Amino acid sequence: MMISGAARLAGVAGWPISHSRSPAIHGYWLEAYDIDGAYVPLAIQPNDVEEAFRALPKLGFRGWNVTLPHKEAAFRAVDERSAAAERIGAVNTVTVREDGSLHGDNTDAYGFIANLDQRVPDWPKDRPALVLGAGGAARAACFALAEAGVANIRLANRTADRAKALAAEWPEHAEVVAWEDRAAAADGAGLVVNTTSLGMQGKAPLEMALDALPADAVVYDIVYVPLTTPLVHAAKVRGNRALDGLGMLLHQATPGFKRWFGRQPSVTEDLIQSIIKDIPQ
Ligand code: ATR
Repeated sequence: MMISGAARLAGVAGWPISHSRSPAIHGYWLEAYDIDGAYVPLAIQPNDVEEAFRALPKLGFRGWNVTLPHKEAAFRAVDERSAAAERIGAVNTVTVREDGSLHGDNTDAYGFIANLDQRVPDWPKDRPALVLGAGGAARAACFALAEAGVANIRLANRTADRAKALAAEWPEHAEVVAWEDRAAAADGAGLVVNTTSLGMQGKAPLEMALDALPADAVVYDIVYVPLTTPLVHAAKVRGNRALDGLGMLLHQATPGFKRWFGRQPSVTEDLIQSIIKDIPQ
């Protein structure tokens, strides 16, 4: 649609930013709901984050998403943070408040669980979840799973110390599993989550035998380029329900859209198809 002089403004801050799918996602919703608004890529160099975040409200921006490598800088740059942002230690959604101050949220955990709930409403919450990785994405997954009531999270990471540090933050929920023992740790699990970069385009696949995994368990790879990672493929071949990371990307975008543009957007099959077009299968 045409935008007017009164258009609401938002965007996504990152460096580089040209690969971001967020403008296409928000652009889809703006058009679908016929909203007078624009969502633009904001290429901000690492040294300029603080200054840019102070300038954007003055330029009329209502808020913006934050992607790599700025999520930790954004955490420091905002005036107030949500409980999720505090717990995850990173900000991916900034909203300008009435008084011009900046509110920082992290919607990755929400996106992670909203996608799982939408796609597999009966996912087994009452059994252990095996989480592979210990970076920012693993932190968001652990936060989401603990909030969803998963009592036992098994954490496996190549660098054991990172898994230990993460597990220490959820002492009642998380236990560390050696990276070499990840296949055995799938025994009895209701969910296996890959938050590592293994399986991404250009990276080695995640080597993970699924023999011990129960037939009704869900495999959730948060990688979405390609959509069907070797892990997702292997899970589907043996009949497990398997999810790619695209849904998480779409769901994590919804809270920001609602705040900036005033309407709760839906993650529909039509949206998924329109974004999938540009993603290698
Ligand atoms: P993010 O914040 O996006 O999760 P990250 O902090 O770089 O990214 O974490 C990437 C994850 O992929 C880490 O768990 C990393 O393991 P290490 O902590 O040992 O680095 C994991 N990873 C990356 N390459 C890997 C590989 N070749 N084998 C096993 N794990 C790997």
